[in-house]
Amino acid sequence: METKLYVLNNFISTGIIDESEDRLIREASRIIAAGGLCAFPTETVYGLGGNALMKEASRHIYEAKGRPSDNPLIVHISCMGELYPLVKCVSDAARRLADAFWPGPMTLIFDKSELVPRETTGGLDTIAVRMPSHPVASRLIKYAGVPVAAPSANISGRPSTTSGSHCMEDLDGRVDAVIDAGSADIGLESTIVDLTGERPMLLRPGAVSREMIEGVLGVSVGLDAALKGPLADGIAPKAPGMKYRHYAPKAPMTLVTVAPKGEIAGGDAPRTELERIAEKIAELIREKKGQRGRMALFCSSECSDLLKAGNVPLEGIDIKISGSRDQENGLKGIAHGLFDNLREFDADSVDYIIAEGYSERELGTAVMNRLKKAAAWHIIYV
Ligand code: TXA
Ligand code: MG
Repeated sequence: METKLYVLNNFISTGIIDESEDRLIREASRIIAAGGLCAFPTETVYGLGGNALMKEASRHIYEAKGRPSDNPLIVHISCMGELYPLVKCVSDAARRLADAFWPGPMTLIFDKSELVPRETTGGLDTIAVRMPSHPVASRLIKYAGVPVAAPSANISGRPSTTSGSHCMEDLDGRVDAVIDAGSADIGLESTIVDLTGERPMLLRPGAVSREMIEGVLGVSVGLDAALKGPLADGIAPKAPGMKYRHYAPKAPMTLVTVAPKGEIAGGDAPRTELERIAEKIAELIREKKGQRGRMALFCSSECSDLLKAGNVPLEGIDIKISGSRDQENGLKGIAHGLFDNLREFDADSVDYIIAEGYSERELGTAVMNRLKKAAAWHIIYV
């Protein structure tokens, strides 16, 4: 199949969708409405969109991604009116979260209505729904006139796609079209909150943090088992997708981070989290230095500066700066480039990756969730 590529150059440079681009979005929306597949930008990551009400379209999505069909799809809407036909009921908690964070990077789980085929929900009686804020996504869904099922637009098991070129890398020849609108703002998939049980549960951390959700609901939000560590045999995560090996670069990765207790004193002066992490990374580098294979380091600019200042032998190491720990922007820069960096490690054919960890609060929780999975839970706590 030939994949049509719609590049929205004016949007990429100005953030405004011009008339000709609007026509391209309409063309893409007709592909989706008719049962075809089109990858499109959202503010989190790119999605691989199909008509959520057509079984066949959902089947094709699984096929194109090489994704197991028991892993349900997120259904995207463009306004609240589109939610009601898809679900049994909208609880007060759901309404409050939707008011606070939609359109935006949050997905809510509801009991599904009869309208939605089980193929779309991976055989479940529940449905994940999200209203994205990206203007291209929002128009595409509105023009399609149907809810749009869209998993992340990557081949199953690879890091999610955060640009049109990532989508082409993974899906060229496998889907009808790709809309390229530049790089995705957030770079990590949406927060998933399950509201179908007694207690609200966080199934996947994202840019809408657990703290923000608790702030709106006024109750504590539970953490699904899949977020706490590798799952024991026989235990299924609530979000079926969280059980699959994900975001994993081909080379083994070791994540160095602090146990979530904050700063502890070491030696004469208290040392920061970063100093402790950098010291362990330096030790690993020295230990691995004589071994064969290409070593890679994935760290913040601050960590790399510390290593250089400590005369750690860095020559020959593939160093990718994940971003800055700078407090003002939090970890936004690191989240934004995360999947792109992980994809590059594969392209560089490295043999072993050491990655720096970050504090698990706010967006840091989402960044660390993806890093832990990329490291297949191989974590050294310092
Ligand atoms: O940011 C995002 O959420 C992106 C963009 C495209 O919107 N989409 C995305 O979809 O990340 P995907 O398919 O890669 O991840 C969906 C996750 C999976 O872990 C899946 O198991 C979970 O959502 N999920 C979907 N429906 C569910 C349900 N009914 N109950 C529990 N988990 C569900
Ligand atoms: Mg995905």
